[in-house]
Amino acid sequence: MTVDTEITTPALIMGIESSCDETAVAIVSEDKKILSNRVLTQLDEHSPYGGVVPEIAARSHIDHLSKLVEISLDEADIDFDDLSAIAVTSGPGLIGGVMVGLMTAKSIAFARGLPLISVNHLEGHALSIRLTEEVAFPYLLLLVSGGHCQLLVVKGVGNYERLGTTIDDAAGEAFDKTAKVLGLGYPGGPAVEKAALTGDPKRFNFPRPLKGKPGSNFSFSGLKSAVVRARDELCENQGDKLTHQDICDLAASFQQALTDAIIDRVKNSIDYYLDHYTPKHHILVVAGGVAANSEIKSRLAVLCEKHGFTLMAPPMALCTDNGAMIAWTGVEKWRKQDFASLETGAVARWPLDPDAPPAVGAGVKA
Ligand code: KG4
Ligand code: ZN
Repeated sequence: MTVDTEITTPALIMGIESSCDETAVAIVSEDKKILSNRVLTQLDEHSPYGGVVPEIAARSHIDHLSKLVEISLDEADIDFDDLSAIAVTSGPGLIGGVMVGLMTAKSIAFARGLPLISVNHLEGHALSIRLTEEVAFPYLLLLVSGGHCQLLVVKGVGNYERLGTTIDDAAGEAFDKTAKVLGLGYPGGPAVEKAALTGDPKRFNFPRPLKGKPGSNFSFSGLKSAVVRARDELCENQGDKLTHQDICDLAASFQQALTDAIIDRVKNSIDYYLDHYTPKHHILVVAGGVAANSEIKSRLAVLCEKHGFTLMAPPMALCTDNGAMIAWTGVEKWRKQDFASLETGAVARWPLDPDAPPAVGAGVKA
């Protein structure tokens, strides 16, 4: 008698990300191996404008995405036929760029007969920690990037409670705008952090928006305006000139105020989480580009220690926008056989928790 022994290899998922200014493709296996993770940043194309220009971003994705898919397959040493599915960001984000990624993914899925998995970009950030660490649901998540600033309870795949969001700017956006008014270039986060290293965080007493108020929403536009006013006042008094030290002090005082505000909001979310959930472990995950900031990370670590939480962050390459987090979310959805139809459309706005009440005073970003 012969017995068929079926060798089952782990699923391989390709992830495509093009919702902002990174064109990214990755291939990730079900058993958490990153076979390829290619990110092409458009920084040089946008920096003359001091921010991301949607039309330039979309055109650049068109120019580079197909080639990046090829490079990724080569690097992983596989063919389309080895893939189990194609996962793609279908929102939220800059709609032109999202459409480029989605059309590419749909074309591959159609031509190769592969299932399509539609991924929420925010869910990519939310689940990326599970690619590199064993983290069970639920956990608390601080998502801080250029486009988003949210506190969420990650209850499961596709299952979130949003505790707070920004009612105006995202944290990364506040860094970028502050860098612009201080003449520090783009992207602002790393430049402001560097200048702050030699600055006096106490020289300017900037507002800590919403600090001491209940809830976990964020607001940063008033802080940015306060930096502009302080800069203008200095210029007026000093013959239109800022010294290098002025810039560093402004940067340090801004960073300090923003960090204080974030810590206050996270503290409220920890209280809420402990009141409303009985998690097996107490974990705060921080993800998004702003998680690169050492000051914010070390203050979060202190806060976590005080409340018996462990602070976790994906490795930096998985914190900023990348394809691996989309591919990994693809794995999580593939396990649930959560596939999308080829009719799936790109969406600019796609909240993780559709039941969350709108933040009072919020603009489109909520
Ligand atoms: O997650 P990400 O790469 O892209 C978005 O989805 O937005 O985040 C980019 C943001 C930018 O606003 C950038 O200024 C900020 O992250 N950022 C930082 C630092 N590095 C990057 N903000 C503060 N400190 C940093 N070191
Ligand atoms: Zn992002």
